[in-house]
Amino acid sequence: MGEMIIEGGRPLLGCARIQGSKNAALPMMAAAILHEGEVALHNCPRIADVFSMERILQSLGAETCWEDHTLRISCRNLRGYEIDREDAASMRSSVMLMGSLLGRQGRVRIAHPGGCTIGARPIDLHLGVFRAMGAVVEEQGEMLEARTGGELFGTRICFPISSVGATENGILAAVKARGTTLLENCALEPEITHLCHFLQAMGAEIGGIGTRKLRIRGVRILRDVRFAVPPDRIVAGTYLYAAAATRGKVTLSDAPVEEISSILRVYEKMGGQWEYNGGKLIADASGVERMVKYTRTQCYPGFPTDMQSVLMAVLLTIPGKGRIREEIFEDRLKTAGELKKLGGQIHTAGRDAWITGGEPLTGARVEARDLRGGAALAVAALAASGTTVIGNAGFVERGYEAIDADLTALGGRIRRIP
Ligand code: UD1
Repeated sequence: MGEMIIEGGRPLLGCARIQGSKNAALPMMAAAILHEGEVALHNCPRIADVFSMERILQSLGAETCWEDHTLRISCRNLRGYEIDREDAASMRSSVMLMGSLLGRQGRVRIAHPGGCTIGARPIDLHLGVFRAMGAVVEEQGEMLEARTGGELFGTRICFPISSVGATENGILAAVKARGTTLLENCALEPEITHLCHFLQAMGAEIGGIGTRKLRIRGVRILRDVRFAVPPDRIVAGTYLYAAAATRGKVTLSDAPVEEISSILRVYEKMGGQWEYNGGKLIADASGVERMVKYTRTQCYPGFPTDMQSVLMAVLLTIPGKGRIREEIFEDRLKTAGELKKLGGQIHTAGRDAWITGGEPLTGARVEARDLRGGAALAVAALAASGTTVIGNAGFVERGYEAIDADLTALGGRIRRIP
């Protein structure tokens, strides 16, 4: 998986452009299956998870090609319904293929999906959607098989808890189902809105976009589409917080400021300043000095769980005591153990992390254990004196297209060794 070597201890100063969103691109790629034609995704991030999804689509008979950051997918000759066990296990978003394969082929066989090890990550809500829409779902060990009697049927589904993936799978299953599907208590994450707009551009009939209640009227045929993947809010948040950790000044073009208001609010509490001008987020973090006493992760529009470990890295640089509570994924505080190797004072118990900031951070050898945790280690390493070597750096590339090049453009000293 390779290593990232970072020489830290200086403020970030520079400009970077924010890449297309991983969590928006992946369900759009899954949605391509629903259409017997071509979709073109512009601004598609060239990251490991997108390549994994591309490989799975190809294995099902899709044709794909890249031109720079445009990914073209044609599912005209799609034939398969079975996803290779290793491919499914390599990426959580493989579960998204269930909704679209059921919608297109009426059948899917897949291993329980993988992804970052940040908690149990059940998929009961996803399977509940398919069952409610008339599919038979069988679980044999780690294999899942779902079948329709020809098509899915629209119905009313009220999610007991808010789930991004289950909402997206419900949408994908409903687009070509017979009749109307009502999805209630949907998650509000922006990637769901982006998926709906993408599907609308393909001819899907979706009402209530951006609310907790979606109404989807099934259609028979979709059309070719070109669509630009919106920028990645978590990448924007990561680079903003890298500036905060190093007291830098950075300009981030294409940062989706409306989608990162909770991240900006916490940044302001630390003493960070920012303005949005001409499509650019201009952040001055030289005044970051106030510990944020308490932050808890929440569903959108609350503070995102994907930024939790990155926030932990920043708080280590600010004198005082702070607490972070992880409400979404029960096993997502383990980056604390690696941050401690850099000198971070963190105590964790259950879903809480208590941080004593302001102690000096010093470079050391650490291991990335998941995607966002790996990015958090890079942020801490930029703030630490001396050299940090981050092992398993490949984890970070699942979601960041060129974190080394971007942080270098922002004035960091960072090298990637394969
Ligand atoms: C998505 C994001 C991930 C982000 C997360 C929360 C993608 C590819 N991934 O993950 O980056 O961290 O949203 O914002 O978009 N749950 C169940 N049963 C289910 C499904 C979920 O109990 O069937 C629980 C989960 O364990 C978790 C909570 O619901 O506690 C929210 O998870 P969910 O929103 O589904 O996250 P993902 O879609 O997996």
